Amino acid sequence: MERATLDSSSEAVEVEWSAGGVDRFPYIWLRDNCQCAECFQADLNKRLVLTSELDLDVAPVRAGVQDRGSSLYVTWPDGHRSQYDWQWLRDRCFSPRARADREQRWRRKKQLWGAELFTNLPTADFPALLTDDRALYDFLFLLDTIGLVLVQNVPRQVGKFQELANRVAFPKMTFLGAEQMLKVKPIHGNFLLSTAPLGLHTDLAYYNYLPGVQMMHCIKQTESEGGASELVDAFNAAYQLKQENPDAFKLLTTVKVNFHRIGKALPKHHMKERHHIISVSDKGEVQKVVCGKHSRDSVLDVPVDQVKPFYRAMRAFDTILSHPKNCIRYKMKEGDMLAFDNLRIVHDRTAFSMAGGERHLQVGYVDWDETYSRMRVLQAELGIQEE
Ligand code: OGA
Ligand code: ZN
Ligand code: ZN
Repeated sequence: MERATLDSSSEAVEVEWSAGGVDRFPYIWLRDNCQCAECFQADLNKRLVLTSELDLDVAPVRAGVQDRGSSLYVTWPDGHRSQYDWQWLRDRCFSPRARADREQRWRRKKQLWGAELFTNLPTADFPALLTDDRALYDFLFLLDTIGLVLVQNVPRQVGKFQELANRVAFPKMTFLGAEQMLKVKPIHGNFLLSTAPLGLHTDLAYYNYLPGVQMMHCIKQTESEGGASELVDAFNAAYQLKQENPDAFKLLTTVKVNFHRIGKALPKHHMKERHHIISVSDKGEVQKVVCGKHSRDSVLDVPVDQVKPFYRAMRAFDTILSHPKNCIRYKMKEGDMLAFDNLRIVHDRTAFSMAGGERHLQVGYVDWDETYSRMRVLQAELGIQEE
């Protein structure tokens, strides 16, 4: 920093940078963010000043640069003295450019994909994920950007989902417990019974906080035809719908659909929530897709003459989702675990026959907040530059 001056008209300290340029830091913000031990607990990264104690009209009596331009000092009317490191200030700059940069970094970089991903499916090695932090980071990065990773070489035993979930953060507890056992056993003498396709869906659509990351471990796969997983990047499909059928897109982004699950079996449950099938941000980016025939309630809150158009819109989206150019079909092998973003990748399982013997999956979830936290910690520890 070259120089710091008080600018009473804008109620800000003007900092002139050694590399050129001037930035303004408002008085009230500087006072609120004093870094001294009285105002800020550095080891916990916590502000101690109460917002109610702040004088909104506070103005320094003096400000200047010190330590050969590496820090800014500010003296307040009550004699309190604050000091701010130049890099710390720079990282919090209010200029339009700095804010645009931060906005850009804040947006999750999603790489949209179609069926072509199948030939280049992101993979991870289970034993490496448990022991190698870089492998774990790379796995989480793929899960964030692509939304889907095939984890291979998972031992064919229950409990492996928990091992990976605990490496990331911890399993998300749901009303079904910390995991679900999807086990289908042939019933003696009833080999003709077939297990119907599920339809493309999001898991736990009736939750307010839907599970972020889903992990599906194949312990035993059916030997019969079918039982394959279908996976679609629903963000990509939603943008296609917007292009091809803006009216349908409008309906799916504005009508809230009721999702529910009611069960009398223990634990008794009555789960219920409403979501747009496609959620978009204020900037028009697709943020979340929630769908599934088995959890969609028969209560449909649209005017009666909008019912058929709404069905047409759902059909239009479904047609795009299940189009061969968008949909990956992969029959999991025993020892595979599919990990995917449950807010973005919709999934299905094709029909299969019990004649193929037992089929056994273990399914569980981890939430995105803790996953992102883990990624940031790993990124710092491994010295990985932001991509
Ligand atoms: C489910 C599901 C997948 C499968 O039960 O929600 O997606 O392969 N199951 O059985
Ligand atoms: Zn202070
Ligand atoms: Zn599912």
